[in-house]
Amino acid sequence: MPPGASPLSPLSPENLTVATTGASGSIFLKHFLLSVERDSRVKTVNFIASDSGLRVMAEELGVEGRSDLLRQIIGAPSVKIQQQSNSDIGANVASGSYPSDAMVVIPCSVGTLGRIANGTASRLIERAADVTLKERRPLVLCVRETPLNKIHLRNMSLAADAGATIFPLIPAFYYRPARLDDMAREFAYRVLAHLGMAQPDAFQWKG
Ligand SMILES: Cc1cc2nc3c(=O)[nH]c(=O)nc-3n(C[C@H](O)[C@H](O)[C@H](O)COP(=O)(O)O)c2cc1C
Repeated sequence: MPPGASPLSPLSPENLTVATTGASGSIFLKHFLLSVERDSRVKTVNFIASDSGLRVMAEELGVEGRSDLLRQIIGAPSVKIQQQSNSDIGANVASGSYPSDAMVVIPCSVGTLGRIANGTASRLIERAADVTLKERRPLVLCVRETPLNKIHLRNMSLAADAGATIFPLIPAFYYRPARLDDMAREFAYRVLAHLGMAQPDAFQWKG
């Protein structure tokens, strides 16, 4: 994080934690990872996938198994994205002493939302989210479910009260995306802009 930046609104996080869980919307993860891989302001990314996240990616992106996962998602080997195991509770991002600047869960299932909102930190994704909140660092939860029951709504409210940003996977339509990839990329750009990393080719509403 640049000197002088507020921990709640980093100007441009250099070290990001990105998690993906078993909600629909793997294409949004793909464009988020492609964007951070390309953005030279981001130096390090720790990436964690839940087992259900892998299952959904198999359906939606045709990803097979765990090996070579990043190459399968972004189409090339990554230079800055390190994959961490969700069962490795001793990984770097499990500790507040590790200098992760912010964390994004994309997509975020309502199961993971519930565990984060209630402080159940038994696997790495929930533990890293718990650490992000306790260290007062930005945590963005791209929740996807519909319709929402009262438990989901309550958990979103709990997580927001603890400092998380609820950033539902709801794309915009006013820039008339022609393809799914355009829609997912613009959504990824909105998340990055929220973290202080506006993208030069992002759509801008001119009024
Ligand atoms: C194809 C598929 C799509 C799913 N879509 C959603 C979804 O949009 N939102 C959600 O909360 N759960 C969804 N689920 C269910 C979650 O994967 C399931 O609740 C899982 O236990 C979540 O685990 P995780 O939070 O550890 O990733 C989906 C499951 C499958 C197989």
